[in-house]
Amino acid sequence: MRYLILSDIHSNKEALSAALSFMRRKRWDKVVFLGDLVGYGADPNSTMDLLRSLRPLAAVRGNHDKVCSGIENGEMFNRIALEAAMWTRRKLTPSNLRWLKQLPEGPVVVDDAFAISHGTPIDEDAYIFGEIEALNVFRQTPFELCFFGHSHFPVVFALSPDEITTILTVAPVFRLKMRPGVRYLVNPGSIGQPRDGNPLCSFAIYDSDARTIAIHRVAYPIQATQRKILAAGLPRPLADRLGVGR
Ligand SMILES: [Fe+2]
Repeated sequence: MRYLILSDIHSNKEALSAALSFMRRKRWDKVVFLGDLVGYGADPNSTMDLLRSLRPLAAVRGNHDKVCSGIENGEMFNRIALEAAMWTRRKLTPSNLRWLKQLPEGPVVVDDAFAISHGTPIDEDAYIFGEIEALNVFRQTPFELCFFGHSHFPVVFALSPDEITTILTVAPVFRLKMRPGVRYLVNPGSIGQPRDGNPLCSFAIYDSDARTIAIHRVAYPIQATQRKILAAGLPRPLADRLGVGR
């Protein structure tokens, strides 16, 4: 089975469309989504419609999904994120609001094959930035393979009996062959707002038969997305940061 792993789409329809048209040339069987479908970007409904049309096999909610749908009030958000979330809440159709509200909290186990979470599988709002956070997650969860999002940069943490290692991926296509006896925490990166200094959208393919994980970086029309953000009256930094991937 080949799973297309998408995270942190953030209402960026151009980026999601580019990832999907790139993937049309490659085979995938099922879509899995790690949260933050909306917030920040100017296309909440059409982006949601596109993702929903893929009929994701599994999905979890992100912190922006909770605030944009009204489950939480966003008191932990900075001013810009909160402004975008309130704008999004006003724009969402009733159907999309309902769909966002029913997204479960992670972790969710998919096909008895792997787990997914937004932040960490212990706390959906917590970040995994480095090896200490990753080690704590490995120690407190049973999963051999867990995909997570929230930090918006692609990274692999691998725990062998002897050590934990970090792979910060920088190649346009990064491929990993999973090793027996090693556990993995994998962030596929962000579709809609990459923050690793590379503005290209980021996503992963997990092949459960071959036991391989690929992380792809794909270009999309960033300037079109930026123009939409400004035309919608959303804060300018949300447009600017897409150009530099931060
Ligand atoms: Fe996010």
